[in-house]
Amino acid sequence: MTPERQQALIVKADEDGLNRCAEALRQGEVIGMPTETVYGLAGDVFNESALARIFSVKERPTFDPLIVHVSWPFTPLARDALERLERLGLVASEKLSPQARDTLEALCARFWPGPLTLVLPRGPAVPDLCTSGLDTVAVRMPAHPVARALIERTGRPLAAPSANRFGRISPTQVVHVLDELGDRLRLVLDGGPCSVGVESTIVRLSTEGTMALLRPGGVPAEAIEALGLGPLERPRASSSRPDAPGMLLEHYAPSKTLTLLDRPFRELSAEAWTRLSGSATRPGLLFFSGKAEVLQKEWSERLPGDFFLAVLSPQGSVEEAARSLFAKMRELDHSLADRLFAEPCPEPNQGLGYALMDRLRRASYKMT
Ligand code: TXA
Ligand code: MG
Repeated sequence: MTPERQQALIVKADEDGLNRCAEALRQGEVIGMPTETVYGLAGDVFNESALARIFSVKERPTFDPLIVHVSWPFTPLARDALERLERLGLVASEKLSPQARDTLEALCARFWPGPLTLVLPRGPAVPDLCTSGLDTVAVRMPAHPVARALIERTGRPLAAPSANRFGRISPTQVVHVLDELGDRLRLVLDGGPCSVGVESTIVRLSTEGTMALLRPGGVPAEAIEALGLGPLERPRASSSRPDAPGMLLEHYAPSKTLTLLDRPFRELSAEAWTRLSGSATRPGLLFFSGKAEVLQKEWSERLPGDFFLAVLSPQGSVEEAARSLFAKMRELDHSLADRLFAEPCPEPNQGLGYALMDRLRRASYKMT
């Protein structure tokens, strides 16, 4: 008989819970932490054994660096941000030109706290393991009040990748963290469902002050461009050596094969569907919008056998779709469907639609 595997405890985010989690982090433990984007697997950034534990719990290769999460009581963030990052030893501000400093301050003032991660010259206190030996460090101040309370109570910045096993679907609810890592953690702090649902946008700021988008995410690229700080260089379409080392092509992946369609389900002819669905006998269909009951009825007329269906946003709102993307992917992955199919979102190159399509593409990518 195999012994029952230990399951992590879900900790309520009250005084006691926050204190308990902060204490565990100070002791070098790693725990599940809510943020507004996805749940993170958090550890003290200054504790190398905690960092090593993050990589091993997640089964993540050490060439893929971690994001450092910071928080401090909200003061007008602009000038303060760089000074605080420097004082913490996280960022080498002397490497930034005056223009780069101005850009950094403008970005922080507008988007922190929030889903924007900045890649900046690395400061002396950041261990190699956190940055995978790079001379830059990724930093963000999350907007989730529970994350901020936890960081401030712990009294140090927290390194945190998403709390999923490497390459798998990111967790946006506390139960997803249990599902992914429940047998490897002692504590998961409950912050409710994530309000954004896709990871932070990652922007690299060069020492001269130019900006490059490394990962589309919760802050739309257009919102950054609207600040008028200069162009935001877009990522190369596909690359096996991405600028953000973790942006491997196959990622966010369900265990079943996912096919991303080039048009909405309703525009697929019967022949096209037959060709596409191949040997699938119980397809799982991920719709961007529409009423589940109506779609269920329509598709039971089109398909001969069983099928499964999930809808990202009945009303067709891209914010709602982003919020539910990973949960719906997970739901279909756990269903009895044998192959998954997703339709593209209506505005694939714009706003949150760009981040959403990025995740769907990576989830559906299969090495050949
Ligand atoms: O929303 C988020 O960012 C979530 C929550 C937990 O905060 N975190 C997250 O972490 O998505 P993770 O580890 O799943 O993705 C971090 C990405 C990776 O693709 C990694 O390569 C990139 O950030 N990254 C980290 N440090 C970097 C650096 N110095 N230069 C370039 N990319 C970096
Ligand atoms: Mg991740």
